[in-house]
Amino acid sequence: MALPFAIKGDHLLRELVPYVVATPANLPLLDLSPFGLHTPAENILDPLRLQSATFLDLLHKLDGLTFGPEGMPMPKWVFYDCSELPGAIYGLARPAATVWPKVRELFQIPDDYQGLVPVSMYVAIPMPQPGVWFGHNLSSLAPVFRRLELVPDLDLAGLGSLTKGLALKCFRVQQFWGATQWLSKALYIHAKFGPLALQTAYTPAHSEHETLTYGFRCTDEALRASMGDPEIELVRPAVQEWIDGRDVARLKALQVSIEAGDSWCIPASPRPVGDAMLVPVSRL
Ligand SMILES: CC(C)(COP(=O)(O)OP(=O)(O)OC[C@H]1O[C@@H](n2cnc3c(N)ncnc32)[C@H](O)[C@@H]1OP(=O)(O)O)[C@@H](O)C(=O)NCCC(=O)NCCS
Repeated sequence: MALPFAIKGDHLLRELVPYVVATPANLPLLDLSPFGLHTPAENILDPLRLQSATFLDLLHKLDGLTFGPEGMPMPKWVFYDCSELPGAIYGLARPAATVWPKVRELFQIPDDYQGLVPVSMYVAIPMPQPGVWFGHNLSSLAPVFRRLELVPDLDLAGLGSLTKGLALKCFRVQQFWGATQWLSKALYIHAKFGPLALQTAYTPAHSEHETLTYGFRCTDEALRASMGDPEIELVRPAVQEWIDGRDVARLKALQVSIEAGDSWCIPASPRPVGDAMLVPVSRL
């Protein structure tokens, strides 16, 4: 399998296959061949059916393995009520028959299981306006692969970006909204889609107050750029200031400015500083 343009994680599509989780009501509204990458019928899972149970358990384990260390693993009912039912899940997986032994062990895959083993997922939920979606969850096992040396000769770098880019195309998203923490490494991925319009900079409504709410238009160029297509160059405003996500006073001031009507964006990728990072912002 390949995409009709160059991507960073080309080899990932030789190792992994796409899957979709959606109800029969939501499924016809999705693009099951995002950028021509076909999702085989047997890789489409209906959360309303008993036969999906083991795969959905594995997805829940994937969430625990990736979000657990971030302190935000999803209870299973949230997964059902806020992901599988109202929205859709897109990701990449490996058939159990060929899954790597250490990954089989990590997931504690039942011996008789013949289905898919997910290594990434993207979950989004449609908002009331047509084409507008909220990104609920991005998980990639790539860092776990690296940390636990699950398959030493296979580098899954690029998996998170590729999964989010394909998922937004699959869900036919036109305008995207998401929420993430100022210190989340996922910001390196989100910024690949182009300048991120800030809707909040300090968010007491979220359990993590140092959360930002951001959005971007989901053009094909934005999605291709996110996957590393070298032919796409997005227009980005100049960086005005670098924000340290631990500087709560600055985040609060930014929030006050947004609420007063000023437009701010994250124009480009964060800059790593030791284990932490600085996030660029620009006033438009
Ligand atoms: C965040 C997560 C999805 C990343 O998955 P991944 O497969 O490693 O992602 P990718 O390889 O596509 O992209 C990671 C990018 O971050 C960059 N990055 C990560 N840590 C970095 C650091 N310390 N310094 C510089 N760049 C860094 C990588 O270089 C890469 O960018 P590049 O492709 O331009 O090189 C994964 O770690 C995860 O599941 N985390 C837990 C859950 C989570 O936080 N989800 C996001 C919620 S909003």
